[in-house]
Amino acid sequence: MVTPRSRNTREIQRVTPNVNMGQPASAQRVGAQLTSAPLRPAWVEVDLGQLRKNFRLIHADKPSDVAMLSVVKDNAYGHGALTVARCAIDVGAKALAVSNLDEALHLRHSGIVEPILIFGTRPFAELPCCLEYSLIPCVDDLETAERLNALAAGNRRRHPVHLEIDTGMSRYGIRWDTRQQWMAAFQRFEWLELAGVMSHFAMSDELDKHFALLQLDRFRQCLDRLNTMGIRAPVRHLCNSGGFLDLPEAHFDLVRLGILPLGVYPSKVCRRIPGVSPVMTVKSKIMRIQNIQKGDSVGYGMRYRAPSKRRIGVMPIGYGDGFPRVRNQGEVLIHGQRTPIVGANAMDATMVDLTGLPDAREGDDVVIQGRQKDEVISVDEMAALKGTVSYEVLCGWRLRLPRIEVDHSTQAVESSS
Ligand SMILES: Cc1ncc(COP(=O)(O)O)c(C=O)c1O
Repeated sequence: MVTPRSRNTREIQRVTPNVNMGQPASAQRVGAQLTSAPLRPAWVEVDLGQLRKNFRLIHADKPSDVAMLSVVKDNAYGHGALTVARCAIDVGAKALAVSNLDEALHLRHSGIVEPILIFGTRPFAELPCCLEYSLIPCVDDLETAERLNALAAGNRRRHPVHLEIDTGMSRYGIRWDTRQQWMAAFQRFEWLELAGVMSHFAMSDELDKHFALLQLDRFRQCLDRLNTMGIRAPVRHLCNSGGFLDLPEAHFDLVRLGILPLGVYPSKVCRRIPGVSPVMTVKSKIMRIQNIQKGDSVGYGMRYRAPSKRRIGVMPIGYGDGFPRVRNQGEVLIHGQRTPIVGANAMDATMVDLTGLPDAREGDDVVIQGRQKDEVISVDEMAALKGTVSYEVLCGWRLRLPRIEVDHSTQAVESSS
């Protein structure tokens, strides 16, 4: 456990002008069934019961000697970093990871005292703050190590770092094949504590594990080399969700899980854990119903022309909220039925054809992503509509949409524990 040594807010604001991880307080309901409608009739629901259940199922699925780190970068892929972090810790996660200083400080300012790893590489100006707030940087170059070492020496307190090795991602990390040169050099930093050694998979979630296994082999070679030099990192880690699911031989001491606890799989072909289901539902309401005549058009660019009399429902959600811009494509759920989107959606509005739903009324709930009765619009379906991956869909819902915390599954959580 680490404790931030100072909570000088003024100083932190100076180095973090962009701390903005929160949700509009007026629309938040915490920890209970949603009892009243949110102020804005377009919102993201985060099911805390399902989140807890997912973490518990994952915890039960992994070997007991493998620790779990919860990756909560980008506001926990849009779900609320603090919510996911607290749940992960309650269920046994040993550490958290983010990808920038703002995200780390948000957690610290909110009272999180567990170890926080910051992925990537840190600008030198951020290093003093890493020490002040007991944040663990990933290190992949000698100059950063040198500067951190000098700062830690000034404090007369060793500072933990995780050494990142690039085994094939060509992003961050010291290249695995230059290990002979840098490993010896790292030994001179007496004020740095080598708390971990890590690498990152480029393709752990595909059926073809050829490259993932090559990366694993390269990682092992680096660990062996460290061992022969008498250096044993206490925590060795390589796996993201895909690696955790499909490559048990690569688990080492810790797995770094981002998307899986949110109930979404990194790809269609990964192993499934029964009961792990999506936590996020994106909802709106029908705000207006327009009865239009044959030949009338709908929306910008007149992309839809009514072939006959139609009932058009208007929802106050658009690409300004992260809804992909579509033209006569995609569906939403109303009364548990798939209902087609018509025309091109705008920044703040999307239109649907309600003609097949004569009972639909203004004020009715609409599910844009998630389940309603027996129908589901999955994150993968949204990703196909947007021409992207599920990760981008989750992260793509903007903070303009209030996040509402609900708990739909108390019984299911109890039975899964
Ligand atoms: C270094 C690192 N580890 C782990 C993860 C978590 O990946 P996933 O969301 O697939 O579990 C990420 C996310 O991109 C990452 O960058």
